[in-house]
Amino acid sequence: MVDQNKIPKHTLSNGLEIPCIGMGTFGSDRFSPAEVSNAVSGAIKSGYRLFDCASVYGNEELIGKVFNQAFTEGIVKREELFITSKVWNDQHGKGEPLLALAKTLRDLQLDYIDAYFMHWPFPNYHAPGCDGDSRNPDSRPFIVEEFMACWSQLEKLYDMGLAKNIGMSSMTIPKLEAVLPLCRIKPTLIEMELHPAFQQKELFDYCVSHNIQPIGFCPIGSPTRPDRDKTPDDVSAMELPSVQAAAKAHNIHPAVVCLKWAVQRGQIPIPFSVYEPEYVSNLKCTTEDPLSESEMDAISKDDKNCRLIKGQVFLWPAAKDWHDLWDEDGTITK
Ligand SMILES: NC(=O)c1ccc[n+]([C@@H]2O[C@H](COP(=O)([O-])OP(=O)(O)OC[C@H]3O[C@@H](n4cnc5c(N)ncnc54)[C@H](OP(=O)(O)O)[C@@H]3O)[C@@H](O)[C@H]2O)c1
Repeated sequence: MVDQNKIPKHTLSNGLEIPCIGMGTFGSDRFSPAEVSNAVSGAIKSGYRLFDCASVYGNEELIGKVFNQAFTEGIVKREELFITSKVWNDQHGKGEPLLALAKTLRDLQLDYIDAYFMHWPFPNYHAPGCDGDSRNPDSRPFIVEEFMACWSQLEKLYDMGLAKNIGMSSMTIPKLEAVLPLCRIKPTLIEMELHPAFQQKELFDYCVSHNIQPIGFCPIGSPTRPDRDKTPDDVSAMELPSVQAAAKAHNIHPAVVCLKWAVQRGQIPIPFSVYEPEYVSNLKCTTEDPLSESEMDAISKDDKNCRLIKGQVFLWPAAKDWHDLWDEDGTITK
């Protein structure tokens, strides 16, 4: 059990606290809901206090049983956990985010969620497990009014006390510039892909300067992501020379170097693993043997701008390719 007092915390812009590291729960098509929920059970006992859930991961019901058991057995109190979930893209319509959160809360056996995210900034939906190149004819580019119609419903969930924080995910600076001035309640958290091979410095700095705490997904470079999300050009964060060198110097796994880098940089990594030795070392590494300034510097210079979660399944029929989702020329791609 890792000593709670040693795990650093961040204070969010609304004064609430969140641990500096959490556990991801996306089993993709490789790990069953039972494997993931067993890992959550072990992780609570090891000292994890932040869990990143989502309805689309298809395992909230089993994870809810684990939370309930941990509360009943007195292993942890509800208020000691920070639990997140996300509204999926097919539930952005009028009244739907409330229904989606109600189902998530029922499945997770909770009265409130610590943070509720818009999983993606558009309502584009694809069938689970569909082919990577398939396009849904109903998909469309980002539309500010549509986004805000969903966000304002999350604001109401916040007003009702059902969500203690509301957040966004997979945003870009142009999209944030368009929506932040329109938000009655600003996001306290934003999830984005962050690992040594994809550091998103500009977006990271933008969030920090707007008092929004970044949460980094795929912090290890998601080696077990679905095959449809892999391309021959992908760079492995764990194989970067700077990461390998630090792993050797500290006698630790390169995965753990990625996490130390993340925590020391200031984002909240949410690594996934169903293996106890892995998830224990992932948590423990935040409490001991930090990377040196020169190691941090070497990793920051090794950025390969290599996005792994390209989102190609969300493309609208007229889009050129996945780059269109990420507004790379500085304006929202229509
Ligand atoms: N907001 C979003 O849209 C979004 C998108 C993607 C992900 N997420 C969240 O982010 C979480 C993490 O992302 P991810 O699961 O894609 O990728 P990840 O955490 O970067 O990689 C997970 C994989 O890394 C390996 N690993 C973990 N700890 C290790 C260790 N100590 N030593 C060696 N290998 C280790 C494991 O592979 P092996 O099984 O081979 O050991 C594991 O399956 C997800 O679970 C999900 O909660 C959110």
